[in-house]
Amino acid sequence: MTRKIAILDTTLRDGEQSPGCFMDADEKLQVARELLRLKVDAIEAGFPASSPGDFESVQRIAELVGDRAVVVALARATERDIDAAADSLSHAARPRIHTGLGVSPSHLRDKLRISPDECVERAARCVRYARNLCDDVQFYAEDAGRSDYRFLARVIEAAIKAGATVVNIPDTTGYSLPEEFGRRIRYLMGHVEGIDEVKLSVHCHNDLGLATALSLAGVQAGATQLECTINGLGERAGNCAMEEVVMALRVHGEELDACTGVDPREFTRASRLVSSITGMQVQANKAIVGANAFAHSSGIHQDGVLKNRETYEIIRPEEVGAGESQLVLSARSGHAALRRRLEDMGYTFDDATTEVLYQRFLEIADHKKEVYDRDLESLVNENAREVEALYTLEALQVSCGFPLTPTATLTLRDEQGHKHTVCEYGSGPIDAAYKAVDAIVGVNSDLNEFMVKAVSRGIDALGEVTVRVTGPDGRIFIGRGSDYDIITSSTKAYLNALNRMIAAARK
Ligand code: KIV
Ligand code: ZN
Repeated sequence: MTRKIAILDTTLRDGEQSPGCFMDADEKLQVARELLRLKVDAIEAGFPASSPGDFESVQRIAELVGDRAVVVALARATERDIDAAADSLSHAARPRIHTGLGVSPSHLRDKLRISPDECVERAARCVRYARNLCDDVQFYAEDAGRSDYRFLARVIEAAIKAGATVVNIPDTTGYSLPEEFGRRIRYLMGHVEGIDEVKLSVHCHNDLGLATALSLAGVQAGATQLECTINGLGERAGNCAMEEVVMALRVHGEELDACTGVDPREFTRASRLVSSITGMQVQANKAIVGANAFAHSSGIHQDGVLKNRETYEIIRPEEVGAGESQLVLSARSGHAALRRRLEDMGYTFDDATTEVLYQRFLEIADHKKEVYDRDLESLVNENAREVEALYTLEALQVSCGFPLTPTATLTLRDEQGHKHTVCEYGSGPIDAAYKAVDAIVGVNSDLNEFMVKAVSRGIDALGEVTVRVTGPDGRIFIGRGSDYDIITSSTKAYLNALNRMIAAARK
């Protein structure tokens, strides 16, 4: 029987801790829902000791997930961290504490400043402590990719003897070559007593662009769990991308004698969701989920594909959810059609939210002949944010052109329902609108990044704007807005980022 490889997703922990990828608790829940649709085996929900916000997110994700997946909380090898992880998981149906410490010479000498013997002793101690609080304990040997084979085997054996149920061998710095990493896993399989009794996990970073190859080498050598993230988010160059490693296992499952339980039809949606929440754009030529992943542009390729897709395609776009639905909505579509389409896309909402979405849908459909899935996704994502809006855009009028001075007259409604109207001029219409927002909201911020893209095809496509704004304390906030008018989407995006900044400051 083909070996089933467990998939542990760490988008919400390793992915979220990378610069500029902050997600608030509601956004993490949105991603967790998508991970459930993907049918991952385990969700690493956060690092509870790092902040009250992370603690609360792990709690809320555990409630949402129920028994549909294992919920994992990270903890360094200290009692305080492990206690926080255990507390955050107290209502989880299938909790797992993930604890560990560095094992490479540089981690021992320069970071932890402990001897090899102390490291072995600490590894056993933290696992034992965690096992008193939780039946499922995963031990990580940080920077295992640069550690001594024999020493690594010693630490892993101590962790297993102390009660670890999963052992994680990370290539934390993405240093290894695939063949060597496979040899390391094989060595552990042959030299660690009890290793057959536990899950053997690999967690590979992408510093040399090898994360997927390293993970596959790990599976070939005997690993039974893969750690990965959507779009390969993660520290520095990121982690192994789930969509890549899972599809490689589908295409080469027989040779590798391995499969996963992940539903690949969710990959495109998951990728877009994570990209829109974090503001991290996916490069067009990214494997599986990039905009060009299934585009054939040269004449020779197009000729081949027209004769038989298999000439240049190893994966059908529909397999990863990249095929657009044939059911295109328009202004004539009713509530039922919208609700049905959203359900097919995996979204369910209560009646009140569906009504809000429907009204927004009609506004868009009035301006566009056809409303595509991408438009609906954008609408759903924007709506989820608008619910918590402290200031909402009521009206915007801009005048610009040559040789006019760009001017914006803008009305915002605050949370008490009061309307504020100002008129500002700027170097362009967006600058003028942003100055008007600043004049009303009155917070100190820096706009660092501004991206605009068409959500779907056609001249009448919705324009989606993503901005990154830095607050007075250096924290980065992402804002997104979409509309058929890009000055309106730009203003909504900016307002969205400022609303989040104000909400964070209040917390
Ligand atoms: O890369 C790494 O080593 C990690 C551990 C905390 C598992 O993320
Ligand atoms: Zn990592």
